[in-house]
Amino acid sequence: MKQNGYGEDIMDWNAVIERTLHTTKANIARFEHRFPHVGNGDGKYQLVNHTDWTEGFWPGILWLSYEYGKDPCFREAAIRSVRSFQERLAQNQKLEHHDIGFLYSLSALAEWFVERDETAKNTALQAADALMRRWRPSLQLIQAWGPEHDPQNGGRIIIDCLMNLPLLCWATEQTGNAVYADVARIHADKSLKFLVRGDGSSYHTFYFDLESGDSVRGGTHQGYRDGSTWSRGQAWGIYGFALAYRYFQEPQYLDAAIRMARYYIDHLPDDHVVYWDFDVPASALTPRDSSASAIAACGMLEIADQLPGDDPRRELFINAVRRSMVSMVNGYFTDGNPDEEGFLRHGSYFVRGGIAPDDFVIWGDYFFLEALIRLNNGRPGYWYVSER
Ligand code: GLY
Ligand code: GLY
Repeated sequence: MKQNGYGEDIMDWNAVIERTLHTTKANIARFEHRFPHVGNGDGKYQLVNHTDWTEGFWPGILWLSYEYGKDPCFREAAIRSVRSFQERLAQNQKLEHHDIGFLYSLSALAEWFVERDETAKNTALQAADALMRRWRPSLQLIQAWGPEHDPQNGGRIIIDCLMNLPLLCWATEQTGNAVYADVARIHADKSLKFLVRGDGSSYHTFYFDLESGDSVRGGTHQGYRDGSTWSRGQAWGIYGFALAYRYFQEPQYLDAAIRMARYYIDHLPDDHVVYWDFDVPASALTPRDSSASAIAACGMLEIADQLPGDDPRRELFINAVRRSMVSMVNGYFTDGNPDEEGFLRHGSYFVRGGIAPDDFVIWGDYFFLEALIRLNNGRPGYWYVSER
């Protein structure tokens, strides 16, 4: 098999990608103007229409699929889809949260990277401004959820937000206005200090006092308990800090990504695909979160790309990614089966809340494809592409 930037291939990633393209082609007709969110238990996706944080992953899949083989049907569907993100922004529809980076990096910003479309660029810049409205200067943080001064969520950060910071970094690069990246850096530093623990594990969320800004305590939203390590949060941290390093080139971010990746690798079950929380007592019935493993795979490839070519840790991370991806292809992948709308089985959205505890989740499919394409040809997805 051919060589790529990660050494000798151990699997025909092309063949896997081709089978995802079959599924996506069928999905374009099935989904029409709606967006897949999480599975509904029978091989299909629940469809939403700009009411959630997840709509960006579908155009992200379409852009990756288009760039892979240049089949125009993916491009047409992607462009159509991005227009609806412009309308969402113009109408300020369900944007009062921090997930604006998840929504707009893979839709408008991806279109800018692929097509150099000025409207898409302006949409992405407006999205960065919308995300800046979550910045709380008195607390020096980006508030994840809820209105300003909200007693429960007003002083709360979450680790997922690291994935929203690249949009801010890109906005600084585009406009020359340092304020976006300054906010991203302060938020990343706060996340590093309070969300990442000494052993490389992580809190999902952290509370700060609304008046004084003092740290109060760590907690969780979707994890097993307040002090546990929610697997997807850990994965957002691995990739998010690696991306912060890509932009800022500050060694503490790469170090954080590496420590979190080591913790992740050291606590994997035998099949190299994580349970939904690292602290949950595991049995044969414990749900996995394949989406966390797909996100972590992308994060570890990002770390590998940032390390010098002769650094022995590159091989550690690349091998961990391959073991996990091979396991997912062999044990979790739907393999182009025409009756199934997702790529990756056994993701979990919110296990304690009983919401899609063991099903497709659209972000799992997106990151699975991003990792496959990266393994195949080294292209890194759309989170942050330097234009400097
Ligand atoms: N779990 C909801 C969110 O992160 O936006
Ligand atoms: N960002 C929400 C989640 O990961 O579920």
